[in-house]
Amino acid sequence: MSKQDELKRAAAEAAYEYVVEDDYIGIGTGSTVDHFIDVLAERRPALRGCVSSSEATTARLKKAGFDVETLNYAGNLPVYVDGADEVNRRLEMIKGGGGALTREKVIASVSRRFVCMVDESKVVDILGHFPLPIEVIEMGRSAIARQLVQLGGAPELREDFKTDNGNPVLDVYNLDLSNATAMEDRLNAIPGVVTVGLFARRPADVLLVAGANGVNTLTR
Ligand code: 5RP
Repeated sequence: MSKQDELKRAAAEAAYEYVVEDDYIGIGTGSTVDHFIDVLAERRPALRGCVSSSEATTARLKKAGFDVETLNYAGNLPVYVDGADEVNRRLEMIKGGGGALTREKVIASVSRRFVCMVDESKVVDILGHFPLPIEVIEMGRSAIARQLVQLGGAPELREDFKTDNGNPVLDVYNLDLSNATAMEDRLNAIPGVVTVGLFARRPADVLLVAGANGVNTLTR
């Protein structure tokens, strides 16, 4: 296992402490989440079922023998566990590197506690070194891209990619995210934007940061 994988695994093990038995759990998407699913598969908590943020996570959960239920059926969740591409000390995040941002944002919005797992390389003072993923509808993507340029951004269409919802993603460089909630609101107001990968209005509640000296916990 690479050093980074070891850190992701350590964060995933720490996240296990937040699992609530006899209820549904929300599960995100990405390589850190894959480690978390491995931990679940080894420890076998008594879950009612899982609510998944992507087809990839659903397949992995089912392969490990877990029941996956729709969010429509499960309702509000006690806990949602996911990774992030970047996170600041206010626990605001950039997500969507894996393209699952829309389902992630929906699940996060109805979860009491968002537990975010990262290795220390993802913790930043100001968000924005990682390009901001924005899921858009296909017919509006050029119009939206021009408006993003007016806001100071440099959008790039993610090549050969469609989300699980069938939409393209623009990865936007250079946006000033020093006021992340204001920018999230501004971007959400552009017609045709499906989801902005800024999680500032709904940040994490618990941040587990794995580093050389162990896992640090930050809370809001
Ligand atoms: C997927 C996400 C992931 O949480 C994010 O990309 C982090 O992935 P990884 O754990 O592989 O670094 O937002 O849409």
